[in-house]
Amino acid sequence: MKIVALVGSIRKASYNQQLAKFVQRRYIDQIDVVIPDLATLPFYDQDIELEAPEVVTEFKKLITTADGVIFVTPEYNRGIPGVLANAIDWLSRVEHPLKGKPAMIIGATMGPLGTVRAQGMLRQILDAPGVAARTLPGNEFLMSTVQNKFDNNGDLIDQTTVAGLDRCVQNYLKFVHELARIKEA
Ligand code: FNR
Repeated sequence: MKIVALVGSIRKASYNQQLAKFVQRRYIDQIDVVIPDLATLPFYDQDIELEAPEVVTEFKKLITTADGVIFVTPEYNRGIPGVLANAIDWLSRVEHPLKGKPAMIIGATMGPLGTVRAQGMLRQILDAPGVAARTLPGNEFLMSTVQNKFDNNGDLIDQTTVAGLDRCVQNYLKFVHELARIKEA
């Protein structure tokens, strides 16, 4: 099963990138997680959306062929970062490749609130008509004080956090299978 992880931070030492890579390694027996570089996307521009650059077309194809999408979002000024908003804006137009796609939201912050505000905003965005991704109600993974929770290899060392992630991912994968089964029926 192919899952695309869209990470809202493009900085080298990003905790959210580390979280995405941890997910990629930890669930490798169940899913193949692809992490595209969102920095390669130009700013969304309605003037060019019908003849979008190749990088945008390829990005949309990647989402179309994915079984699901994991959004890994930092919180910027109580909302989602522009990098992620930009990617979603491209995906919300013309082919609408996120439509009906099972999505999961996770996120990490150095602060105490675990990206709860960014995640709330993102759930609302995913519900927009042009986006229309499917999220599982109540399935939430919030990671606070992230600076204390990874070791030097990028592995999560806090076992309560790992257990929470396991729960969230397994609920999500059941949801992905369930939606696929309904689609086939
Ligand atoms: C932040 N940060 C932050 N944290 C938070 O919990 N709520 C917030 O509203 C914000 N706002 C914010 C704005 C901007 C512009 C920056 C750069 C940072 C802190 C942020 O969560 C922290 O820097 C994370 O480490 C960013 O994620 P990555 O880059 O480590 O993945």
